[in-house]
Amino acid sequence: MNITLRQLKVFEAVARHLNFTRAGAELFLTQPAVSMQIKQLEEQVGQPLFEQLGKKIHLTDPGREVFRYSQAISNQLSELQNVLEEMKGLQHGRLTLALASTANYFLPTLLGVFNQRHRGVTVDIEVTNRENLLRALAANSIDFAIMGHPPDGLGLESSPFLDNPLVVLAAPDHPLAGHERIPPERLAQETFISRERGSGTRAARERFFAEHGGISFGKTMEMNSNEAIKQAVQAGLGLGVLSIHTMEVELMLNRLVTLDVAGFPIMRHWYIVHREGKRFTTIAQAFKEFVLHEAATLLNVPGPGQAITQSAQ
Ligand code: PGA
Repeated sequence: MNITLRQLKVFEAVARHLNFTRAGAELFLTQPAVSMQIKQLEEQVGQPLFEQLGKKIHLTDPGREVFRYSQAISNQLSELQNVLEEMKGLQHGRLTLALASTANYFLPTLLGVFNQRHRGVTVDIEVTNRENLLRALAANSIDFAIMGHPPDGLGLESSPFLDNPLVVLAAPDHPLAGHERIPPERLAQETFISRERGSGTRAARERFFAEHGGISFGKTMEMNSNEAIKQAVQAGLGLGVLSIHTMEVELMLNRLVTLDVAGFPIMRHWYIVHREGKRFTTIAQAFKEFVLHEAATLLNVPGPGQAITQSAQ
C-alpha cells in the first residue's frame, strides 16, 4: 500500500464535509482534483471509500476505518510539529550526558543552575568510566561527555572548561602531613590506594610517577570509587591521588589533608566532548555555551590556564 499524506489530507476533508466541492474549497483544489486524489487512494486501498446514495455521499465501512486512522495520523503530525517547535526554543527538550565518575562531584551544581533557567528540559545522565564514555560517543547515543582529554583521531571535538588538579591526599595524622616540598621519590615507601584501570585519574598519576624516575610503590590497593579511596585514606590505609573536586568537604572538616609533593598538583582539565559535526538542538547548544562560559565562575574554580595555588586547594 502506497498512500501519501496528501491523499489522506484530501480524503479527510471529503469525509468531514461528505461533499467533494466543499472539501475542494477548503483545500483550494478543484472538484476534479479532489476526485482524482480519492480515486488514487481507493486504488491503493483496493476498496471503495465512499458510496453515493441518492444525492448524498456516505463513507463505506473501509472508508470509516481510513477516516479513523487518517485523523490519528494528522493528530500525530501536529503533535510532532509542536514538539519540533518547542525544541527550537530553550524551555523544552532533552539532554543526554555521560560523565566520568569524578565529574559527578561538580556537574550537579551546574545542572541545578541550568535547570533553573530551562525548567522544561529533561537531563539524562550516565556516570561511567572513560572507556564507556568513548563507546557512547562512538555510538552517538549521547549529546556530550564530560571527561578528561579524549584520545586524538576518534572524530571528537573537545573543549576544556575547567581545571582538574590532582592532589596527594593523606589522613591528617600521616607522618608526611605538613611537610614542605616532599620529593616524589619519598613516596616510594608508602602504600598507595589507586583507582581502577580505565580511570583518567589513575592514568595521570601513573604518567607522573613514570616521568619522575619510574617510582614504584611499596604496596598498592585498587578501588573503583573515589568515595571508597577517601574512606580508606581517612582510615590510614595509605595515600591516594585524586581530583581536588572529590574532597571539598573532607578538606574543610580536616578529615583529609593534601600533601605538598613537588610536582603536584598534576594539572588535568575537564572537557566537554561531542562527535565532530554533531547537529545540536537549541538546548544542547545552549548547554555547551553555558558550560564553556559559566562553569568556572559558578564553581569558583579556575578555568583552564588560570593557575591554581596551594592555598586555593
Ligand atoms: P576518572 O576521571 O576517570 O578518573 O573518574 C576522569 C579524568 O580525570 O579523566
